[in-house]
Amino acid sequence: MNFEFHNPTRLIFGAGTLSRLGEVARKHGRKALIVTGGGSVKRNGTFDRAVASLKAAGIAFAECDGVEPNPRIATVRRGAWIAREEGCDVIIALGGGSTMDASKVMAAAFYYDGDPWDMIYHGQPDPHIPTRTLPIITVPTLAATGSEMNMEAVISNEETKEKSFVQAEGLYPRAALVDPELTMSVPKNQTAYGVCDLITHVTEGYFNGVDGTPIQDRFAEGVILTAMEWGPRAIADGNDLEARTQVQWASIVALNGWANAGTNGGYPVHMIEHTLSAYHDITHAAGLAVVNPFWMRFAAGHRAEKFVQFAERIFGLKAKGPKDLDCALQGIDRFEAFLKSIGCPTRLSELNIDDTLIMRYAQDTLRIIHDENGNLPGRPPMSKEDIVRVLQ
Ligand code: NZQ
Ligand code: ZN
Repeated sequence: MNFEFHNPTRLIFGAGTLSRLGEVARKHGRKALIVTGGGSVKRNGTFDRAVASLKAAGIAFAECDGVEPNPRIATVRRGAWIAREEGCDVIIALGGGSTMDASKVMAAAFYYDGDPWDMIYHGQPDPHIPTRTLPIITVPTLAATGSEMNMEAVISNEETKEKSFVQAEGLYPRAALVDPELTMSVPKNQTAYGVCDLITHVTEGYFNGVDGTPIQDRFAEGVILTAMEWGPRAIADGNDLEARTQVQWASIVALNGWANAGTNGGYPVHMIEHTLSAYHDITHAAGLAVVNPFWMRFAAGHRAEKFVQFAERIFGLKAKGPKDLDCALQGIDRFEAFLKSIGCPTRLSELNIDDTLIMRYAQDTLRIIHDENGNLPGRPPMSKEDIVRVLQ
């Protein structure tokens, strides 16, 4: 277990922290580009409150609205252009993971003369790794991706039907202002998808990582159990601030690098899902909810003991032995039942996806990322046929 850990994002967490936006932004610039999604922040008053805080601190601003779920590279190009035209020196992402991801790449594109798609890893031999970015401040309005405190962004190219990621130190936001009150207007389905996304972030590290990571296992189990306890409460009553708070903290812990540190595994469920959302523009975690349990059933055959641990520690099942596959599979069934109970789809047909293009999904996933043997990294590495089998 060898690893290096560094996360420079200042996390400012708690109800009411939005009012500190101006004070925080002043440390990084004088004119902000405020990036927003399809309008939720305008409808629920968050945008006006953010602007009031900026004005009180003497920060001018320009706007880039309309970032779509599964944010598109064309929107990134537009945002970077606005930032340059307007002379912005700091970017404020006010929205969900899509808005935050687009903002990160806009911040990098600001200093890059080429096309920002060069930065998104899609199998090209020499991706441009951004080193210089405008300072980024994230203000998440949805608990799911953990983008507010990590160095990753996921962007789609609608022309080439690709969706992939960039990871770079420069993409760490300077500050994440996390105010769980802002998530109280998130509808039930998006709240449930957020719970599924954050759980999947830790199950990827848990099941694909190296052996001998007892602390990371406990971190992951803590995140999963917390999400399973508080997620349904946040779904049942969106105004339950305590539930919103616990879910949002769990979403950050799940993917800020700490819980998975040293696990050094692949993210096969995410990689397969990204291909599905590239083709079908589905919500990221709705795709994960379908793929993850089937991937688990596939992987349990190769590493039953880890799935037995999951079944025992998460669902309190009792195995007959450390490699009791029945127990492992029961745990996976219980996990799938949980996802269903909170309203997530668990079959591709529920997402209106049939099997016509399954071979192409597998090929495209592998084109974007593969190991030296041409397989999708993970435990076990997946061949094209494995991916097809899981999707079928
Ligand atoms: O666009 P608006 O109008 O803001 O509405 C959004 C959108 O329709 C709405 N929403 C957000 N906050 C709201 C709200 N509605 C009411 N009240 C609020 N407070 O929710 C919808 C979904 O928003 P989106 O930002 O797309 O969701 P999410 O946060 O789940 O982000 C998903 C994107 O992040 C990527 C996914 O692939 C996907 O593109 N991911 C990013 C990661 C990262 N950067 O680390 C990791 C993840 O695994 C993931 O891949
Ligand atoms: Zn995810």
